[in-house]
Amino acid sequence: MTSWFSKLVVSMTIRMPRWFVGWVSRRYVAGNTIADAIKVMQRLAKENACFTVDVLGEEISTMDEAQYFFEEYRQLIDAIIEHKIESDLSIKPTAFGLLIDRKKGYNNIKKLVQIANKHGMFVRLDMEDHRVTQDTIDVVVELHSEGLSNVGTVYQGRLFRTLDDIDYLEQKLGPAADYRICKGIYLEPPEIAHTGYNEIVSATNASIDKMLASGAYCAVASHDKPVIDHTLSALKSYGMGPGIDDPRSNAGPVRSGKGPGYEFQMLLGVRGPLRRKLAAAGHKTRVYVPYGEKWYEYSIRRLQENPTVGAQVAKAFLMPWTNRP
Ligand code: FDA
Repeated sequence: MTSWFSKLVVSMTIRMPRWFVGWVSRRYVAGNTIADAIKVMQRLAKENACFTVDVLGEEISTMDEAQYFFEEYRQLIDAIIEHKIESDLSIKPTAFGLLIDRKKGYNNIKKLVQIANKHGMFVRLDMEDHRVTQDTIDVVVELHSEGLSNVGTVYQGRLFRTLDDIDYLEQKLGPAADYRICKGIYLEPPEIAHTGYNEIVSATNASIDKMLASGAYCAVASHDKPVIDHTLSALKSYGMGPGIDDPRSNAGPVRSGKGPGYEFQMLLGVRGPLRRKLAAAGHKTRVYVPYGEKWYEYSIRRLQENPTVGAQVAKAFLMPWTNRP
């Protein structure tokens, strides 16, 4: 997808009325409220999907705003339990204040992870841009050292540092490490990240190999066939697959609500047929379900940060046969 087209889509979208952006993002955002998210998950559960839910929001500018996210996630946990939905949580560390006040931000995250832990629920710390990479990893290590093992983070294949970061987490947590691996949505500078498609795919695949070799749990978050095909063949080489207990000699603990050492994850509204095919083959598939009142700000910001997303959205609408929800 050419970059001029991506930029054109973005510049057009930010000039569109809010209702139009809302109409387009309906496919990718569950709605404004917890009830909307629950409804979407109940529908997709029939496709054998499980979930991770994200409360949409901007990076906060005061610690008071962190309270909103804490409270919303707390209510979300109650709703997930009440409706017996198979779901964990995805949170953005900066929404809990990590960049404003490290200590308070950490304590906010810890409080939520403790509540989730009481319900046997896992919390994934989404990975944001490179300003918080190390902090996010440190938070996970610190929480584990405080006995909270229901937490993991996300590594971005595009970052040069990722292979070293896998070594680091293996050293700290051993096979108790629980990764989501994705390409990375933030367009990081060439000094610290791969920028070409082929390099990003190769680096992401190399990370998947290293995670699997370490015995860790590996959630592959991609809709890209070369990444998924690579994962399937890597799994085969370890004898891993649907319905088989994780056979790796160094495998981490059995985790309730998770796959046998791995799972696939996809975004709500993206490449449904591919997800359903993986689910039909017996693989654990998890859908990332974002919802929240701040959907508009979130959508516009994501488009501005990575114009390729705009082009992918436009392509999904103009050529629906290439990418059905
Ligand atoms: P690629 O971008 O090449 O997409 C492959 C194909 O999928 C496209 O050709 C298109 O058809 C379709 N597609 C992908 N994204 C689409 C979209 N938004 N709209 C329409 N079609 C689309 N990043 C990050 O930095 N930190 C994080 O914590 C996370 N978390 C996360 C969770 C989950 C569950 C997923 C699936 C992804 C993330 N990401 C993320 C985003 C990730 O880094 C990456 O930007 C996107 O997944 C797109 O990369 P793909 O591997 O899908 O390849």
